[in-house]
Amino acid sequence: MSYIIAIDQGTTSSRAIVFDHEGNIVSVGQKEHEQILPKAGWVEHDAAEIWTNVREVVGQALSRANLTRHDIDSVGITNQRETAVVWDRTTGEPVYNAIVWQDTRTQSIVDELASDGGTDRYKDRVGLPLATYFSGTKIKWILDNVDGARERAEAGDLMFGTTDSWVLWNLTGGTDGGVHATDVTNASRTLFMDLDTLTWNTDILADFGVPESMMPEIRSSSEIYGHVAGSQLLREVPVAGILGDQQAATFGQAAFGKGAAKNTYGTGCFLIFNTGEEIVHSENGLLTTIAYKLGEEKTVYALEGSIAVAGSLVQWFRDQLGIISSAPEIEELADQVEDNGGVYIVPAFSGLFAPHWRPEARGAIVGLTRFANKNHLARAALEATAFQTREVLDAVNSDAGVPLNELRVDGGMVANDALMQFQSDILGVPVVRPKIIETTALGAAYAAGLATGFWNDLGELTAKWAEDQRWEPSMDSEERDRQMRLWKKAVDRTLDWVD
Ligand code: G3P
Repeated sequence: MSYIIAIDQGTTSSRAIVFDHEGNIVSVGQKEHEQILPKAGWVEHDAAEIWTNVREVVGQALSRANLTRHDIDSVGITNQRETAVVWDRTTGEPVYNAIVWQDTRTQSIVDELASDGGTDRYKDRVGLPLATYFSGTKIKWILDNVDGARERAEAGDLMFGTTDSWVLWNLTGGTDGGVHATDVTNASRTLFMDLDTLTWNTDILADFGVPESMMPEIRSSSEIYGHVAGSQLLREVPVAGILGDQQAATFGQAAFGKGAAKNTYGTGCFLIFNTGEEIVHSENGLLTTIAYKLGEEKTVYALEGSIAVAGSLVQWFRDQLGIISSAPEIEELADQVEDNGGVYIVPAFSGLFAPHWRPEARGAIVGLTRFANKNHLARAALEATAFQTREVLDAVNSDAGVPLNELRVDGGMVANDALMQFQSDILGVPVVRPKIIETTALGAAYAAGLATGFWNDLGELTAKWAEDQRWEPSMDSEERDRQMRLWKKAVDRTLDWVD
């Protein structure tokens, strides 16, 4: 059995990627799912559609490489984090659409809970501020708003899971003995898991009115959770790795040691900084989260700077404004101008996440003159990700006490050389892209392969990491400071927008 299959259940699509023992990509299956936007601030997915797509992309990936289950050592799962699915344990039917991490409908729940102790009331235990981003408020919303859901949950009839759990449960048999579990990285995004004990905090669950019986079992990121059920293509193959997608990218970047970091440019943009076995509480707007836990080994923690909108701003240009017809066109537009023409876009579509945590912020385009055209707007859209990353890096440097001296990057947008050069210019440190930029799926494959013995240890995985390209900063510091000053002025314009 020479291959591992990683299932990457992401925000916009589900993918299955087959890796060989060298960590090379052998084949890929991919399918987008519908983004359901019922009203401003609401973002939902159809969990049943996601499960159908997962099965389909697994089939695509296997057939494109002419493989069967007999060639596959194990399955790794990685996923969009925080997105909440609640389903009936007897019928397997979701009781409501999955509420996506970007969804802000639960702000009133946040405000109500924060009225007693502020938004940081649970932070010392769970590492997170109260915010609409995390799964906990979304579960509460479903129990409060879906007819009969609370009674069914209290009777033990409902299950909650982030999409890793949903996929795992279905893969391993669903209503016929499916495994209801999650890993520590996903559990650390709910607001309910104690960072030091890695167990559900019953006091916080009680404050939210969420019965513990609906919560999945918390397991490590690398162990055999169960085997694929008899009716499926991968039947009897062990499912042996689970990591939330940002942690999976950290793992795929071989950022195993204390002080290592990566930044992933996907739908959003997420910088993770490994703090080793130490739980570090941020003074600068970062989250404390789990990086990974391998079986019975010690837990590795991290600080995270989460930026809600990166690639999804490009999608907004395509789907909402219609300025481009495909995502790569934004690069062509942006490349036609020397600079942003004084235009700054702050994409505070879900409020502003790290390091601001300002839910009331709303997006803004500032600095417009008659001169500005769609090329400047395209450039400003790409630059927004670089500016936000700089804000997060400043926070990491302050919390860590020692400056990060280079940044490893991955995700779809890092194929854009001009953006990576600008990123390095704005950070003032080198930006490094590895040969394999599919680090999210690779990380999930690594976690599975370590559990089954397909790979031996972290040293073997570290040796596979190889640099593809490095960008050195070339902007003078005066210009860098001027750009950051203007960016910060633009951010100020977006705050306190909701009246
Ligand atoms: O926390 C949200 C994150 O996990 C989503 O990642 O790659 O779908 O933007 P992505």
